[in-house]
Amino acid sequence: MKLSGNTIFITGGTSGIGRALAEAFHQRGNTVIVGGRRKALLDEVAAANPGIGAIEFDVADPASIERAAATLIEQYPALNVLVNNAGIMPFDDAAGAIDDAVSRRILDTNLLGPIRLTSALIEHLKAQPEATIIHNTSVLAYVPLAATAVYSASKAALHSYALSQRFLLRETNVRVQEIAPPWVDTDLVRKSGDPRAMPLDAFIAETMAKLEGDDEEVIVDAVRPMRDNPGANEHALVNDFNAALAANPIPV
Ligand SMILES: NC(=O)c1ccc[n+]([C@@H]2O[C@H](COP(=O)([O-])OP(=O)(O)OC[C@H]3O[C@@H](n4cnc5c(N)ncnc54)[C@H](OP(=O)(O)O)[C@@H]3O)[C@@H](O)[C@H]2O)c1
Repeated sequence: MKLSGNTIFITGGTSGIGRALAEAFHQRGNTVIVGGRRKALLDEVAAANPGIGAIEFDVADPASIERAAATLIEQYPALNVLVNNAGIMPFDDAAGAIDDAVSRRILDTNLLGPIRLTSALIEHLKAQPEATIIHNTSVLAYVPLAATAVYSASKAALHSYALSQRFLLRETNVRVQEIAPPWVDTDLVRKSGDPRAMPLDAFIAETMAKLEGDDEEVIVDAVRPMRDNPGANEHALVNDFNAALAANPIPV
């Protein structure tokens, strides 16, 4: 995608990757609107970056999505980029009892939220000269972290959805890109400075360059093997990956 001159709505723009992407796009001459639930943080992002707009909304709530989409179309008629970034990552235990309410919250936020929001904006995006939908999945869409089984499954599902959507939009002016981050040091779990986590600024720099290169899947070089592998080695890869993390767990 071109990195300037767009009007971009970024969900989950109150912190972490979403806020950093919002600021990077803002600095490159785009009109940026951030969305999220935490009003104080929306105000803080807008105050720190004059020109960035903010919409308070809950991506897990269909009615809130409809209201946000209507506001966007009315107040930002040039809107041509949607970044489905908001997400949550609760840990679970797929070997034991699963809390159904938590699973539904994960799926409403990470999977149905992007599906519903894209659906609410798709005709508007098709009417723009050039448009892009970006889904933020995870490298865990390709190799699950067993300790976050429902989260990993939600991201695998969003990856699959993006493939279908890209195919169906192939002859339109709407491109579909996917960002599949590695472990990035944000508060998704707990910002810890763990050396295995990629620093946020390095992640954003590499990601912006790959977005500009029109990569359909934006994956930082460090975790390319996790995306490329599965095939016949999938079970061994999932085993080794999870055994290594079980021996030295992510700080929760
Ligand atoms: N950090 C990583 O290691 C990593 C790796 C792979 C993928 N990702 C993905 O990157 C995305 C951003 O995560 P992050 O690392 O930047 O974590 P983060 O700092 O916790 O950001 C998550 C964002 O999602 C928003 N959000 C959560 N639930 C929401 C809801 N119901 N409605 C609206 N917004 C909601 C939060 O805003 P409010 O709380 O203000 O609503 C927040 O801005 C997520 O989809 C995550 O799965 C992250």
